[in-house]
Amino acid sequence: MSQTPSPQSTLLRALNGQADMPPPMWLMRQAGRYLPEYREVRAKVPSFLDLCLTPELAAEVTLQPLRRFPFDAAIVFSDILIVPYALGQSVAFVEGEGPRLDPVCDGTAIAKLDERLAGKHLAPVYETVERVVAELPKDVPLIGFCGAPWTVATYMVEGSGSKDQAGARAFAYRDPETFQRLMDLLVETSAHYLIGQVKAGCRALQIFDSWAGSLPEDGFARWCIAPTKAIVDRVKAEAPNVPIIGFPRGAGPLAERYVQEAGVDAVGCDTSLPVAWIRDRLQSRVPVQGNLDPVLLAVGGPALETRVKTILETLGQGPFIFNLGHGILPETPIENVERLVGLVKAGPA
Ligand code: CP3
Repeated sequence: MSQTPSPQSTLLRALNGQADMPPPMWLMRQAGRYLPEYREVRAKVPSFLDLCLTPELAAEVTLQPLRRFPFDAAIVFSDILIVPYALGQSVAFVEGEGPRLDPVCDGTAIAKLDERLAGKHLAPVYETVERVVAELPKDVPLIGFCGAPWTVATYMVEGSGSKDQAGARAFAYRDPETFQRLMDLLVETSAHYLIGQVKAGCRALQIFDSWAGSLPEDGFARWCIAPTKAIVDRVKAEAPNVPIIGFPRGAGPLAERYVQEAGVDAVGCDTSLPVAWIRDRLQSRVPVQGNLDPVLLAVGGPALETRVKTILETLGQGPFIFNLGHGILPETPIENVERLVGLVKAGPA
C-alpha cells in the first residue's frame, strides 16, 4: 500500500516539508457542538457513541465544517475512546460529564480485553472513511487518527478524565510490567486501526497524546515516546508514504526529544509552547502544526488578529499547518471561525 502525496493538497505539501503562504489550515475538533448542524444530527441518536458508529451520520458530520469553511483537510468523526470500546471495555459518554468507562485496574481486567473483537467493532469507522472520501474534493485529504496509548490508558485505568492522571501514573509506577501489557495491547490495536483507516482512504494520520504533559521525563520516554514510535514503525511498514502528525500536548521542552525519537513526520504544538521556540527547536527538524489558543478564538476581537499575525510571521517561513493548540470550544461563535479563516488566508502582511 503506497500512496504518493497529491501535490494539489496544501496539507500534504506542508507535511512533505514545503512552506506555503498562506499555510494550509484545519481545526482540531472542527466537527462538533459549535455547529448547529452538528447538534441537529447529534439529536437524532441516543448517544455520542452511536453517532461515531453510524457511518452515514458520522460521514455527514465529518463533512459539515468543510461546507462552511475552506479548510484544507477533513478529520474522521470518531473518538479516541473507540479503541477501548473495540477491545470490549464498557464506554459511555455522559451528557455534561464526559466519558465514563468501567475502569481496568489490574492484570485480570487487562487480560479480559480482547484484541480479536477490535476489527469487527472498528469496521463502521472504516465505512465512514470510505463514504467521506467519496464526497471530498480530491485536493482535500481526510485525516485518520487514534489516541496515543498513554492518553487512552489514562481513561481506561481511571474510568474517566482526570485533572492530573495521578491514578494512571500510580498504576504505571507501582506495576510497570502489568501496565506495559496494556500499552502493548494499545500499540497493536491502534496500529491496526490506523492502517485500517489508511486502507479505507485516509491520506494523513494524527496521534493524539492529550495527556503527555503529566509524565516526567523518564515516564515520557517510556509511556509516550516508545509506544508512539512502536505504532509509527508498524504503520510505516504498511503505509510508508502516509504522513503521521504526533500531538504530545503539554510536553513542553520534551517536545524536542519527542520529535527526535518518536518517528513522527510532523508535530502538533499546544498553546503553551512559545512560537519562536517552536520555530528554532521543532520546525528546524519537522513540519509543525498549531497553536492558537482555542479560548482566544472563542473570544475573538483585536487580540485574535494580533496573535494570528504573530503565529503566521514566526512559523510561516517554514513548513507549517495552521491549527489550534487544542480542540475548538463548543461556545465558539461561527463568525469567529470565519474571521480566523480570513486572517489566515490573508497571511501576515
Ligand atoms: O476533530 C474532530 O472533529 C474529530 C472528532 C474528535 C472527537 N474527539 C469528537 C468528540 C476527535 C479527534 C476527538 C479526540 C479526543 N477525544 C481526544 C484527544 C484530543 C483532545 O481533545 O485532547 C480526547 C482526550 C477525547 C476524549 C473525549 N471525547 C472527551 C474527554 C470527551 C468529552 C468532553 C467533551 O468535549 O464533550 C469526548 C466527547 C467528544 N468527542 C465530543 C466530540 C464532538 C462531544 C460529544 C458530544 O457531541 O456530546
